Amino acid sequence: MALHYLKQQRPITDALRRSVAEDLPELADIGDAELRRKAIEAWAFALSHSSFARISDIPPGGNPGMNVLKRGSQADHLRGVARLALQIADTCIAQRPEVRIDRDVVLCGALCHDVGKCYEFDPENQARWADDPSATGQPTLRHTVFGTYVCLAVGLPEEIAHIACAHSLEGQHIGVSSECMIVRHADHAYWSVAGTLGLLTPETLRPNPILRVRRLADELKQAAE
Ligand SMILES: [Fe+2]
Repeated sequence: MALHYLKQQRPITDALRRSVAEDLPELADIGDAELRRKAIEAWAFALSHSSFARISDIPPGGNPGMNVLKRGSQADHLRGVARLALQIADTCIAQRPEVRIDRDVVLCGALCHDVGKCYEFDPENQARWADDPSATGQPTLRHTVFGTYVCLAVGLPEEIAHIACAHSLEGQHIGVSSECMIVRHADHAYWSVAGTLGLLTPETLRPNPILRVRRLADELKQAAE
């Protein structure tokens, strides 16, 4: 029977927690100190159970091998989604102050929505699943599901676990919270816009009949030379 998810590969140290705060400086903007602490703990817990030393070591894709950034890291994706999600929230608040949005849940949820990628993207898990997909599935758990486990295991509130769970395909089967809807759209917008602006490696692009890819400025310059 498989208990790989229980295998802690390194201790959870203050140095590991510091690396999380360095890779995701927007964590400092979470107003609730306990929520901020648990968000860091979620990433430290997930990393300590993976092959990755820090968030910026996780391959910068939406799914393993799909929509992979040409440049930058998974931290860039998380930070981009956090900024986009807050901009959606703040636009709505500015236009209609009577809307009720918990900005801390939006920001914490955006920074933690992909915490399960430590598990789903782990090369050891990928190799294990590819070796015998019939044994425990391929993947055993998507990052959404493992991320939900991580959030709950470190004591993050259900509002954040829900965003980890429902920001992707799984959210199509349940009713999602308002903060989750904001993070979902920020997440999906990030990948769609990265695709059209030429930021994704062509061979990893998710098929999309309306997508047309613009070349990056330096690529265009190189092609002209
Ligand atoms: Fe994401």
